[in-house]
Amino acid sequence: MADQFGRLLQDLRISVTDRCSLRCRYCMPREVFGPEHVFLDRGALLSFEEIARLARIFVRLGVRKIRLTGGEPLLRRGVADLVAGLAAVEGLEEVTMTTNGLLLPRLAEPLRRSGLRRVTVSLDSLDDHTFRELADTVQPVASVLKGVAAAKAVGLAPVKVNTVVQRGVNDRQIESIAEWARDSGVTVRFIEFMDVGTTNGWRRERVVPAAEVVERLHARWPIEPVHRPGAGMVAERYRYLDGAGEVGVIASVTRPFCHACTRARLSSAGELYTCLFASAGLDLRTPLRDGTTDGEIEALIAATWFARTDRSSQLRAEGGLSGPRVEMSYIGG
Ligand code: GTP
Ligand code: 5AD
Ligand code: SF4
Ligand code: SF4
Repeated sequence: MADQFGRLLQDLRISVTDRCSLRCRYCMPREVFGPEHVFLDRGALLSFEEIARLARIFVRLGVRKIRLTGGEPLLRRGVADLVAGLAAVEGLEEVTMTTNGLLLPRLAEPLRRSGLRRVTVSLDSLDDHTFRELADTVQPVASVLKGVAAAKAVGLAPVKVNTVVQRGVNDRQIESIAEWARDSGVTVRFIEFMDVGTTNGWRRERVVPAAEVVERLHARWPIEPVHRPGAGMVAERYRYLDGAGEVGVIASVTRPFCHACTRARLSSAGELYTCLFASAGLDLRTPLRDGTTDGEIEALIAATWFARTDRSSQLRAEGGLSGPRVEMSYIGG
């Protein structure tokens, strides 16, 4: 199933809720996602049966990996049951999740039992003051660290941590986060701050180039690149020469990887997005609910992927990315 640039459909990211328990300023700023904000109601969300049905169709089209996201996926009631349903889909190689970690102490064990293999936890600072400022919360960092520990304890391994780096916000903490990750057996990936959505106040001056992160890490603990195993991998991986594991960078702004982008995204309301920076998606919820057959839905998705020409990060790099865009919390990271 190749698109206009020959990119295969291999990964699917499914947002299972548009809600989150944090209000990270670059993702769900409280001025936009405040008490007045109307989230999707239950009936608007795809049910677990509908998600599993779509997953089977996507697998027929070539998808091998599914990642559950949000908002915060662990806020979706019964999410472990959804994982179990997806883990049973024949032909699917992996079900993973990206979470803020807060509910992992309670949910790591049931998730593991349901067939989740590993988790990625978002964490931008180990310092309470910065964390609270960034995530606009009263929670301490320790709440997230407990989640990471719980995931490790039940064998949701390797645990990865995503750190979005912003100049003047948390860029001085790169080494301390890397050190903590080395000591805890966690793989951290430093992500370049992206202009997803239209409300996160993105400015180019805030982007810390991945090359700079690599240089700083290398100066402290020598590292060498690890060969990327294949298409669809967004992280550039490095190995510590002293044997303390791996670290990665995700250079979506300075070294876009659109040419190898094999991912589709499904919003919690059932729209298919073929790019993180898309302005609109294809409504799959209506056909799911009006008696359209699996074969017909498969044809709809196939036609959309076939027509795909998205390469927004590349266009940004070439100087032109504008217009309305969907918010990250709506389609998942
Ligand atoms: P692994 O299989 O664990 O390596 O997953 P992954 O590399 O896909 O990592 P993850 O899904 O956690 O993605 C990490 C971050 O990279 C996301 O949260 C986004 O910030 C960014 N990212 C992921 N996919 C894309 C993409 O398709 N385009 C762009 N521009 N950024 C992406
Ligand atoms: N730029 C880069 N990464 C982002 N994420 C959310 N918003 C942005 C952004 N503007 C990341 C989160 C999380 C994942 C879901 O996406 O940190 O790890
Ligand atoms: Fe929630 Fe993750 Fe967005 Fe932060 S980045 S507000 S934890 S969905
Ligand atoms: Fe894929 Fe769009 Fe990201 Fe490029 S900008 S890598 S096409 S999701």
